[in-house]
Amino acid sequence: MDALVSLCKRRGFIFPSSDIYGGLNGFFDYGPLGVEMKNNIKAAWWQDFVHRRDDMVGLDSSIIHHPTTWKASGHVDNFTDPLVDCKVSKQRFRADQLFFAAVTVETESSATGSSEKQIVGYVSALESDRTDAELLEKAETFKRKKAIRGRLLPLEARDMTQAKPEEIPLIPSPATGEPGSLTPPRSFNMMFQTYIGALRDDSAVAYLRPETAQGIFINFKNVIDTGRVKVPFGIAQVGKAFRNEINPRNFTFRSREFEQMEIEYFIAPDADWQKCHRDWIDAGLAWLDSVGVPRAMLSEFTHPKEKLAFYSKGTVDIMFKFPFGVQEIWGFAARGDYDLAQHQKFSGKSMEYFDEAAKKRYVPHVVEPSVGVDRIFLAALCAGYTEDEAPDDKGNLEKRTVLRLSPRLAPVKVAVLPLVKNKPELVAVADQLHARLKRKYVVFYDQSGAIGRRYRRQDEIGTPWCVTIDFDTLANGTFTLRERDSMKQERIDEKALFALLDEKLA
Ligand code: GAP
Repeated sequence: MDALVSLCKRRGFIFPSSDIYGGLNGFFDYGPLGVEMKNNIKAAWWQDFVHRRDDMVGLDSSIIHHPTTWKASGHVDNFTDPLVDCKVSKQRFRADQLFFAAVTVETESSATGSSEKQIVGYVSALESDRTDAELLEKAETFKRKKAIRGRLLPLEARDMTQAKPEEIPLIPSPATGEPGSLTPPRSFNMMFQTYIGALRDDSAVAYLRPETAQGIFINFKNVIDTGRVKVPFGIAQVGKAFRNEINPRNFTFRSREFEQMEIEYFIAPDADWQKCHRDWIDAGLAWLDSVGVPRAMLSEFTHPKEKLAFYSKGTVDIMFKFPFGVQEIWGFAARGDYDLAQHQKFSGKSMEYFDEAAKKRYVPHVVEPSVGVDRIFLAALCAGYTEDEAPDDKGNLEKRTVLRLSPRLAPVKVAVLPLVKNKPELVAVADQLHARLKRKYVVFYDQSGAIGRRYRRQDEIGTPWCVTIDFDTLANGTFTLRERDSMKQERIDEKALFALLDEKLA
């Protein structure tokens, strides 16, 4: 991750937000290359899930909705995370991500030969892919430092939502390492509040949307009234979402401002929702694979029935193997008619749809595929980041960093490189090719430095192809086309180059 985060900053993919003021935790800015790649993710998703299907339409709702939207959806009452404060360090932790364990030792009485178990203290650690190992290390250190005799018994880690009231004062804060400063968990609403207009009272309170989905539900009636759609059909929306996350972390993985790409797919109440749900999960897996997030790094997590909301029929997440652990990137929830029925109740407007074919009126049910743009971005970078070796201009092997991004996502599609910059006839041909290519694609022109170095610079930002204009170009009109991953080179003319780009980027 460190190498990737540094590459992102150095080459202009992602910067910490408000960098000159020391950054702002949980917020990020996408730089010149980052914005291209992010736009490519959104465009590829929209193309494949909206334009190339016959059962989908799009929407772009406002970010701030009528506040009743969030009362109806349940966000005002339930969009909370359990929060624990450290009164000494003033740090805040998500209770379900703060783990602790009792340090229990077993001693034997030499007189009676009987053994006795005793809790001698507590240890804590924040959730990571080595939480258990960290707790064990801390327990061993604790026992050694306090010179406690006896055998350390296996630890049983629990998170702070499971702590008994009498245990809380004994659990050390991860910030200070000392017990006594953690508060019991309390609910913290993650919506960012704002005010509409000049008033600053409760009547003016509004929220920055924590998901794009509700914008779709509150427009359901408008969309079906336009007459273009028939159930089953879906509405897609891409846009910013805001959550006041207690612990933003793992670079952009959990941010406070991020972008979602969401679909509400409406089906009849008696339709086979399981098949629809499965089809969307399969479509998600196949799509990720097609944009360079390989199937081998993906897995599925089915939410246990007892943890689902009462209205939910089933939720499956597509998980990606990040360097910091296997984590969710795309959620697929079968939500029944909960959202539309709630908006019908709170607005007093009918959300019923008249199904001509079935001659029935009903409130449709919904399957909701919901994915974060930033998470796909990060997954594609993690999957694509490789270090290998390549020959330099003298033929000596040197380390090469290469981002094996899919051509559709790569920020720059092709680099145009005149072999040398002091031959006006080469530069003129390169200029003309560059001008023709950039009418259609994002192209980078680079004439400075040895050719091997210029290739390396493009490899590092994931440019799939480089074309070099050399003396043969002047003689026969062909260029050297160099492919990023294999580093293979071939001669190609302009017509074939455009055909290749059109095919690979479609
Ligand atoms: N409408 C359903 C919904 O919002 P979610 O699981 O809370 O469900 C969906 O979010 C997706 O949005 C996640 O799978 C993830 O890709 C992305 N996401 C959620 N919270 C995020 C955060 N704090 N930072 C970045 N992406 C986030």
